[in-house]
Amino acid sequence: MQGFVVNGGRRISGSINVQGSKNSALPILAATLLVKGQSVIHNVPDLSDIKCTLKILRKLGCSIQQEGSTVIIDSTEACGCEIPVELMREMRSSVIFLGALIARHNKAVLCAPGGCEIGLRPIDLHLYAVKRLGVNVEESFGQLICTAPKGLSANKITFSFPSVGATENAVLTSVFAKGKTLIVNAAREPEIIDLCDFLNKCGAKIVGAGESIITVEGVTRLYGTHHSVICDRIAASTYLVAGAVTGGDVELLNTNPVHLNSVLPLLEEAGCDIRIRCRSVRLKAGNRLKRIDKIITQPYPGFPTDAQALFTTLVSVAEGTSVIVENIFESRFKHVPELLRMGAHVRAEGKVAVVDGVSRLYGADVQAQDLRGGAALVLAGLCAQGVTNVTGTEFIDRGYADFENVLCSLNADVYRKVNQNGTKKKPCS
Ligand code: UD1
Repeated sequence: MQGFVVNGGRRISGSINVQGSKNSALPILAATLLVKGQSVIHNVPDLSDIKCTLKILRKLGCSIQQEGSTVIIDSTEACGCEIPVELMREMRSSVIFLGALIARHNKAVLCAPGGCEIGLRPIDLHLYAVKRLGVNVEESFGQLICTAPKGLSANKITFSFPSVGATENAVLTSVFAKGKTLIVNAAREPEIIDLCDFLNKCGAKIVGAGESIITVEGVTRLYGTHHSVICDRIAASTYLVAGAVTGGDVELLNTNPVHLNSVLPLLEEAGCDIRIRCRSVRLKAGNRLKRIDKIITQPYPGFPTDAQALFTTLVSVAEGTSVIVENIFESRFKHVPELLRMGAHVRAEGKVAVVDGVSRLYGADVQAQDLRGGAALVLAGLCAQGVTNVTGTEFIDRGYADFENVLCSLNADVYRKVNQNGTKKKPCS
């Protein structure tokens, strides 16, 4: 079975450029379907979820060229409006094609998306949004057939919860809807702003992205443009926590510190020294991390659920007791039983985990169950005594470009075990 082999005990130190944001790149790539012409998207991270998105775009009739981290998409000939079941099931974010296809063709045929490893992930808010804009949704043999035979008309969409994906689908569906759409209680994540920036560069009229109310005035067409995806704030948080748990010194170079506003104060609370410049963040860790009183996940600008598992590892090796409250997803403590195998003291029940920090973790064979939980186990391996084998790399590859090589460039000793008969590949010296 493929896995990361982590030899613990080395200080993570050095400077890196952080990858482009997965959660921005995915909706922006889907949004290129709305463009009649060529979209040039820079800073696209090389991830399995991105590969799946490009597969879907090809299937729908787009032509795609890739040059390093730049993806050039020409959607002029895209005529497909159905996404095959196997591609829908490959990743949760495939649901973003709902809005993109309806906007393009007034029709989308898809099934419920995959990626339910962190709890129930319904799409009721997505469907509510598109219905408000004039879409009929029929369910037949597990398929959702969404059509707008009379075209799309603007409306007020009021979300009961600021869902990221549903906000993105509401924006995409309303770009060509006649009139002015109001999205109330919209998600405010930086990735929403990035998507709207891209669409506005193409000729859309979207105001208020990043705030709770977004207004979209329908336009009749979008034009090709160039756009560079923002830096990945969760990957950035991952490398900062790697520095923190190993007593290291890490500098992130092309990052936006504002996007880390809820993460950096907790790293300071844990005793790390944080230096912020306009486009960079440097973390220097002391000898022993301190407890963090409360880590409470919230929609942005609150502390991100995607960083919760990373911080579980952090407080596992901090002095004292810390409390974590997970408010966004219901099963997001799947990394906890694996951390226990490494000697952590964590009690997780429902949405709360209480962590009594230990002075040391020990290498063990552990299994990633989801993307961020998997990254948290690799971080635990970095500060553990001995060797940690983390299987389930397919989860980690969904969100981290070249993870082991980036960590090695920061002085880690990590490599990917590539096949069952034990052959190992060292990615770096
Ligand atoms: C996005 C991110 C994911 C992050 C999450 C929360 C992408 C590709 N993924 O996921 O990394 O963890 O935001 O910041 O951008 N919900 C409903 N009904 C819906 C939609 C959502 O009840 O129709 C619930 C979900 O079950 C969950 C909560 O809302 O409990 C948050 O989900 P949402 O904000 O939609 O997350 P995603 O867009 O799936």
